Amino acid sequence: MAEEKPRQFVGKTEFKKGLEGAITNESSISYVDGANGKLIYRGFSIDDLCAGGGGFEETAYLLIDGELPTKAQLGAFSKDLAGRRAIPQEVKDLIIMIGSRTHPMNTLRTAVSVLGCLNTKEFEVNVENDLDIAMSLTAQFPTVAAAIQRVRNGQSILDPDPSLGHSEDFMRMMTGEAADPRTAEVMDMALIIHAEHGMNASTFSAMVTNSSLTDMYSSICAGIGSLKGPLHGGANEATLNTFLEIEDPAKTDEWFAAAKEKKQKVMGFGHRVYKAYDPRAVIFDPIANEFAERAGSGHLHEIAKKLEALVVADLGGKGIFPNVDFFSGVIYNAMGIDTDMFTPIFAVARIAGWSARILEYLPENRLFRPRAVYVGDLESNYTPIDQR
Ligand code: SDX
Repeated sequence: MAEEKPRQFVGKTEFKKGLEGAITNESSISYVDGANGKLIYRGFSIDDLCAGGGGFEETAYLLIDGELPTKAQLGAFSKDLAGRRAIPQEVKDLIIMIGSRTHPMNTLRTAVSVLGCLNTKEFEVNVENDLDIAMSLTAQFPTVAAAIQRVRNGQSILDPDPSLGHSEDFMRMMTGEAADPRTAEVMDMALIIHAEHGMNASTFSAMVTNSSLTDMYSSICAGIGSLKGPLHGGANEATLNTFLEIEDPAKTDEWFAAAKEKKQKVMGFGHRVYKAYDPRAVIFDPIANEFAERAGSGHLHEIAKKLEALVVADLGGKGIFPNVDFFSGVIYNAMGIDTDMFTPIFAVARIAGWSARILEYLPENRLFRPRAVYVGDLESNYTPIDQR
């Protein structure tokens, strides 16, 4: 047994890697009930918010403001957002320049950075100014994402139509035509249920960055960077690629057996908090079937259900079930959205949660500064380089 190295640390040294179970702060923004598979935003279940008809705008208002809006408040908020939806020519030029040469999450991250460079008040760090930035970014994310999809497909960038709702205009700017009501409704629902999820990696990244009292654009860029990863928001893209790789439902067993052999993690499954079905996967499952059937891609949902049965039978006892990223890609694929655009769509929703968390923490800000247990050597003797 290797000699136990001295641990140089003041205080307790028991810890779990990845801050598992660590508490960062108190919040009233959302509650992720991991044992029972429930997700609550400011006291309201996502199921009620999806059924309520208030749309993504109502959820964004609730997350950022803390209360459900009245009709008049929602109208004013939605009008404010719609009026901020346009993006400057510099950002359009950037998307045209690099949009087809790099992953859409890189272009989104860079576009946010350019928006920050163009905002002369970017470094005025206070709730009022950061709320103004949050509103603009929440409004502009769909415009940037839609422009990226179009440029990557050799199409011209479309400007917003402020007379349309948030999700409706997002779909129009992306596809060039008015979305059918059901598609707009489902995209709205997708944005609602992706909007916020406690102290996930990208929210934590945004908050840690913002806790140094830097500008909000830098903090949101940190969130985008984290969300891109396949263990987090990038899993929706990776999951659909798994289904495309399996291709034939009859090959699902064979694929899973090989994945098990390689001890490969199956994308779209597992969660640090949920040890039951992710309620967002429960909502998406039937919609994925509906949209896949409509688009003639029913085999993708069939593969998903076969894989779900295999993984849950094998790993359900360890609390591994489908998460939000398992079915969402089947829906977006059926809507004609490019696979590598799935994570930017996640960001189009999560900008509301990132903003709400940053704004909630800012008034009583405290720099995040954890420590690591030092297990290296101490007091080593320095040997001059010509003697090494
Ligand atoms: C999101 O945090 C959030 O809230 C995120 C999110 C949000 O809304 O912000 O919900 C969105 O990111 C959902 C997760 C998307 N990611 C994926 O689908 C990628 C695949 N999932 C895994 O990488 C994993 O489940 C994580 C990263 C999501 C969570 O992993 P943990 O909590 O760090 O768990 P772990 O990696 O320590 O695994 C524990 C055990 C291991 O087995 P043992 O070593 O104990 O034998 O479970 C196994 C793992 O091998 N395991 C899996 C698995 N996930 C965990 N085995 C096979 N396939 C998987 N997907």
